[in-house]
Amino acid sequence: MVKPVAVSGVQPSGEIHIGNYLGAIKQFVELQEKYQTYFFIVDLHALTENPDPQKLREQTISLAALYLACGLNPKKTTLFIQSHVPAHTELGWILNTLTPLGELQRMTQFKDKSEKHGVLAGLLNYPTLMAADILLYRPEVVPVGEDQVQHLELTRTLARKFNSKYGKTFIEPRALVEKDVARVMGLDDPTKKMSKSAANPNNYINISDSPDVIRKKIKVAVTDSGSEIKYDLQTKLGISNLLSIYSVFSGNSIKSIEFKYSGKNYGIFKSDLSELLVEKLSPIQKKYESFLKNKKSLMKILDDGSKKANKTAEKTLKDVREKIGLI
Ligand code: TRP
Repeated sequence: MVKPVAVSGVQPSGEIHIGNYLGAIKQFVELQEKYQTYFFIVDLHALTENPDPQKLREQTISLAALYLACGLNPKKTTLFIQSHVPAHTELGWILNTLTPLGELQRMTQFKDKSEKHGVLAGLLNYPTLMAADILLYRPEVVPVGEDQVQHLELTRTLARKFNSKYGKTFIEPRALVEKDVARVMGLDDPTKKMSKSAANPNNYINISDSPDVIRKKIKVAVTDSGSEIKYDLQTKLGISNLLSIYSVFSGNSIKSIEFKYSGKNYGIFKSDLSELLVEKLSPIQKKYESFLKNKKSLMKILDDGSKKANKTAEKTLKDVREKIGLI
């Protein structure tokens, strides 16, 4: 039986914290079982923020290594770098010619980002490149965060428009919105989601944090008054957050963890949580390091991925070129 297709791109942005891990990455790893998956690192999209070249190179490579370390399997997933498949930019251009300016100007992310980075044409056209990324592979689903749903709507609109003008070519994909396995909140401020842009690095635990850093961050994590280890979103936000992190990483229910720690103090609970995180993250870190040390085999995986992706993408693009009148 042919598996349905799922496609997604990820930004090569620095570090990945445990909130990202429990959201996006875990979902990708699960999807590769049921879907034929194409996952790529969107280095061309990253250019819209004019990153430092050396940093962009490093982050692209380290993100690929991290996804593989977390369980993406190159036998099941086509993993590649967006800029290695030129069909993305060509279809992106073609879609630009079908996209009214107003549609792009009203995108929330464009409005937010252009305030920070100025109104760059690349930022404005970000969503048409994203639509091309997707439509080339004719996917059924696109796993994305909530903030990308608007871009996906535009993708569907463009697919419909192209199909009705030139004949059925694209499939209208549906967004598969990442449901957080756990809503992981900031360790220094459990009223807000864990975020890598937080001012205080004690807000998050990165997948690559060393055991000592993990221990230190958990130690200083905000707890609440009282001394009971109890899940209560009214009065014990800090402890509730730590309990839910404990729960997803251990696979045990919150109730059973409460029971285990009844009568024990915050200090013991926190120190056990640190050791649990160290234990769960260290195999990922080891694999990550070994992919980074073994650049040749990492690049081979990415090259194989782009070869496969190029094949599929070129097929779609050939169809598009013919339909639209390119010789
Ligand atoms: N814009 C997406 C984000 O910031 C990244 C992205 C680029 C993407 N192309 C894509 C996601 C195609 C899904 C499909 O998260």
